[in-house]
Amino acid sequence: MGRMNQILPDKGMPWTELEPELERLRTRDVSDDQALAFVVHCDGEALDVAKRAYRMFFSTNALGGSSVLPSLGRIESDIIRFAAWLLGGGPDVVGTLTPGGTESIFLTVKAARDRALAKRALPGKPEIVTPASGYPSFDKAAAYLGMTVRRVPMAPGFRADMAAIEKAIGPNTVMIGASAPSFSHGIFDPIAEMATLAQRHDLWLHVDGCVGAFLAPFFKELGEPIPEIGFGLAGVTSASADLHKYGYGPKAASLVLYRDAGHAKFADVDFDDWPGGRYGMPALTGTRPGATVAAAWAVMKHLGREGYLRNARRILNARLALMDGIAAIPGLKVLNKPELCILNFGSDEFDPHAVADALRRRGWLVARLARPRGLHIMIVPRHEQAAPGFLAALRESVDEVRAAKSRAAQ
Ligand SMILES: Cc1ncc(COP(=O)(O)O)c(C=O)c1O
Repeated sequence: MGRMNQILPDKGMPWTELEPELERLRTRDVSDDQALAFVVHCDGEALDVAKRAYRMFFSTNALGGSSVLPSLGRIESDIIRFAAWLLGGGPDVVGTLTPGGTESIFLTVKAARDRALAKRALPGKPEIVTPASGYPSFDKAAAYLGMTVRRVPMAPGFRADMAAIEKAIGPNTVMIGASAPSFSHGIFDPIAEMATLAQRHDLWLHVDGCVGAFLAPFFKELGEPIPEIGFGLAGVTSASADLHKYGYGPKAASLVLYRDAGHAKFADVDFDDWPGGRYGMPALTGTRPGATVAAAWAVMKHLGREGYLRNARRILNARLALMDGIAAIPGLKVLNKPELCILNFGSDEFDPHAVADALRRRGWLVARLARPRGLHIMIVPRHEQAAPGFLAALRESVDEVRAAKSRAAQ
């Protein structure tokens, strides 16, 4: 091998040089405190606990299962039991830890497809019916699995239109995909009605609780009007929940729950035709990090019910402060009626995406919404503290965009 390229140094670098190098690399990154999108994790002492647990399990691999690492087996089963309890599931509910919501949804889409194919011949490609707000993970899974997705236009208020959903169900439909709540507008689909519909048509109903599953039950306990979303509804077949969102664990960690082992088995690929012997596992990925799972478990135990409730209260406080603050800025309007932790806002006077650019120049990050054109905030506990600073930057950004618009008009 010739001399190394410029990326790999000839001589290895010590941490004392690497740390400042990494700090330099991230000088233009958004700080966690100024991100109102993409960054959900715990803060304070819980964050420290997560980092310690992560470090302890840094090199572990969940691939071997509990016969290799009984500790991880126990940790995974504790997390599954916690999530099943949150979603009203009894002892029959089983689950799989995955690296993210997309894989959780992928597994359940495969299971729904294979269950349907085991029962009947389909005239065409197996199909998922979902309100237009369903997360793109359904489409990704469908693309990999030779399926199609029928996205049904929504009723006013970004609500699922039940009549249109029922009409969309055809001979190839194998699954209904529901959101609890949707990522884009933060609205809960009518899961109870969808569950009845799914039962009537013998369809698999997946409840995508990637955003809501670890948060909604605590909002409910605080007296917020949260609908029934879980296994208490007989027609719910599976549910996904992201530990790396409101489980407050590190990325990448999520899980999928199935009503019972009989449904879960359709997600498996059991393989034996190679020299290594039997290779069967419930997840898509082979090697799976134990560290993220151990950290999520530690956060769950550290927070306890009290901690989750405290965080839910902080999110509610932040939501109120942000909604009031946004409504008080001339030209801005809140676009949705947030039911959990997602807030949309826009403007009839100027381009809200220009406001996102102006906020970014001030260090703040919000996500963009395409339909309706607007901005998207995912509220986390630390935004209770961040709200005043964000609203001040938002006011300045709106002024800047307004001034630029009137200069352009002259
Ligand atoms: C409702 C919903 N479902 C699924 C996902 C996909 O999760 P991931 O990005 O972990 O794959 C997300 C991500 O934001 C989401 O909000």
